[in-house]
Amino acid sequence: MEYKHQAVLLEEAIEYLNIKEDGIYLDGTLGRAGHSSEILKKLSAAGKLIAVDRDTAAIKAVQEKFTDNESLILEHANFQEIDQVLAKLGIEGVDGMLFDLGVSSPQLDNPERGFSYQNDGPLDMRMNPEQKLTAQDIVNNYSQAELERIITEYGEENWAARIAEFIVKMRKEKAIETTSDLVEVIKAAIPKAVRRSGGHPARRTFQALRIETNNELEQLKNLIDKAVSFLNPEGRIVIITFHSLEDRIVKHKFRDLAKDCTCPPDFPICVCDKKAEVKVITSSPIQASDSEKEFNPRSRSAKMRVAEKI
Ligand SMILES: C[S@@+](CC[C@H](N)C(=O)[O-])C[C@H]1O[C@@H](n2cnc3c(N)ncnc32)[C@H](O)[C@@H]1O
Repeated sequence: MEYKHQAVLLEEAIEYLNIKEDGIYLDGTLGRAGHSSEILKKLSAAGKLIAVDRDTAAIKAVQEKFTDNESLILEHANFQEIDQVLAKLGIEGVDGMLFDLGVSSPQLDNPERGFSYQNDGPLDMRMNPEQKLTAQDIVNNYSQAELERIITEYGEENWAARIAEFIVKMRKEKAIETTSDLVEVIKAAIPKAVRRSGGHPARRTFQALRIETNNELEQLKNLIDKAVSFLNPEGRIVIITFHSLEDRIVKHKFRDLAKDCTCPPDFPICVCDKKAEVKVITSSPIQASDSEKEFNPRSRSAKMRVAEKI
């Protein structure tokens, strides 16, 4: 079965990347190449696109589609490792980078990947199938306190304490092995009256477990400084996020990188020597148009921020 992905904020991301036909670009979240395909259309034979994904399934699907495109270099890697990827290719700087975070529709729609509370499958949730830690390991081995913290912080779930308590009670009887097992535990933990409102009761817990399994927030924090250090002057970094935890990280990182001196205001002279590395191009995030939101519900929560290297 071929799983498809509808790229979010496609026109906007391409416009903000300001693509030069002979430039070098990096797509750190290849997915099914929705954005990468458009970048490639704008490049001449002298241009390059390095496209990275931590999911071997994404690399394989795109490899099959673009067998003989000389501008495209595919790399199976975590975007945290872009320094190693660029060093291996002998590239010192790039003219633009795109990161379209989160999971792709092919990951969500394939029950075997275990990302979806709507399909029964193994409780997996690894974006990189070669990684060891799975959501099943977390659910069955983390302490009740750790589970409560993750579900509260990464899921912003009001019922985190009860869900963690029910998980621990349930796993004493039988390991929680599938997405359906977990959905049943969550439903039992959240009172019926509450379950009737606010969307699917498992949505927030699944988000939390996905973030923890893939260490998503930590990796995003580590990424931004590194990515900016490889941008050529006037090169842009475009980041699309899908929930407030990610957007907050991008907003604050861009703001810090755009600051000159950060010495306390009562210091007579600057001792930190900090210089702004970027200017922020989007004072508020770009969001999908009403027609995109209607056509592609995934775009409803998308926020895109852009910064430019000085
Ligand atoms: C929303 S999809 C990207 C979709 C893509 N822009 C398109 O239009 O087809 C996110 C992709 O990024 C990948 N990904 C997420 N975090 C990653 C990371 N830390 N390193 C590399 N790839 C990552 C996921 O495996 C997934 O394929």
